[in-house]
Amino acid sequence: MNRFAGKVALVTGAGGALGRASAIRFAAEGARVVIADLDMERAQAVAAEIGVEAIAVQADVTDLEDCKTMVQAARGAFGALDVVFANAGIGGAKTEFVDLPIEEWDRVMGVNLRGMVLTCKAAARALIDAGGGSIVLMGSSTGGWDTILGSGPYMMSKEAVKALARNLALELARYRIRVNAVCPGIIQTPLSFRQGTDDPDAWEGFFARFADRIPLRRVGKPEDVAATVAFLASDDARHITGTSLLIDGGQTLQSWSNAPDTAYPSS
Ligand SMILES: NC(=O)c1ccc[n+]([C@@H]2O[C@H](COP(=O)([O-])OP(=O)(O)OC[C@H]3O[C@@H](n4cnc5c(N)ncnc54)[C@H](O)[C@@H]3O)[C@@H](O)[C@H]2O)c1
Repeated sequence: MNRFAGKVALVTGAGGALGRASAIRFAAEGARVVIADLDMERAQAVAAEIGVEAIAVQADVTDLEDCKTMVQAARGAFGALDVVFANAGIGGAKTEFVDLPIEEWDRVMGVNLRGMVLTCKAAARALIDAGGGSIVLMGSSTGGWDTILGSGPYMMSKEAVKALARNLALELARYRIRVNAVCPGIIQTPLSFRQGTDDPDAWEGFFARFADRIPLRRVGKPEDVAATVAFLASDDARHITGTSLLIDGGQTLQSWSNAPDTAYPSS
């Protein structure tokens, strides 16, 4: 497939696991890609992996000027902007709500929600100038569909992403810009590992235990998310806007998954 031939894609947080996988997928399908991240070393490493069709940009998505800079970098290097994957996000510290410092709330919402709004605000004009385009927002099944004790700011931010997708889809439809969100369940990445355990040697066992509790009996891979992002960003999804798509192997189907009488049969 070469669905992004001649297109320019911007990925925020592209130095991280899921942003990297999507940037690589966009490039593999013909896009020129702007790899934006707060961490320039990570961004440069991913851009180097992709090669001449990618540039790295240091940008903090909580800063509107930085967001404008990354959009300008796309136009400067490649002449336009067609696709945006607003992916940058942080998990935040696990804290019981009664002890939650409000600064932590602001920090997580600042990156996960405000940062996404600023990214879209900075990109919208460039997409309009390109005659239309596609935005994919990074949500999450956790927060978007269910919730986790001690992670209130993350949960709220990810539910809000779904509302943002609907609102921007309606706002921007007149410009032929589609806006959708992806909501992954647990994906095999350092971020989900860090959120789940303090034991650095537990990687294999940690994800194997999760796989047992997911109806499709596997933990998602970054490539699973990248494939879905590419679909929503491409013309294959030309009649889809305002939706939030779960990528969770059925993880959220079972609210009773911890109850003894819903244990899986052994086959
Ligand atoms: N990993 C999972 O299982 C999972 C599941 C559902 C949703 N998500 C979401 O996917 C996104 C990426 O997750 P990941 O696993 O790749 O995490 P990651 O930590 O590997 O990557 C996140 C990247 O975002 C960058 N970043 C952080 N703050 C930034 C800022 N202010 N401006 C610009 N860049 C910033 C980091 O430097 C990092 O490179 C997040 O929004 C996360 O909430 C992840």
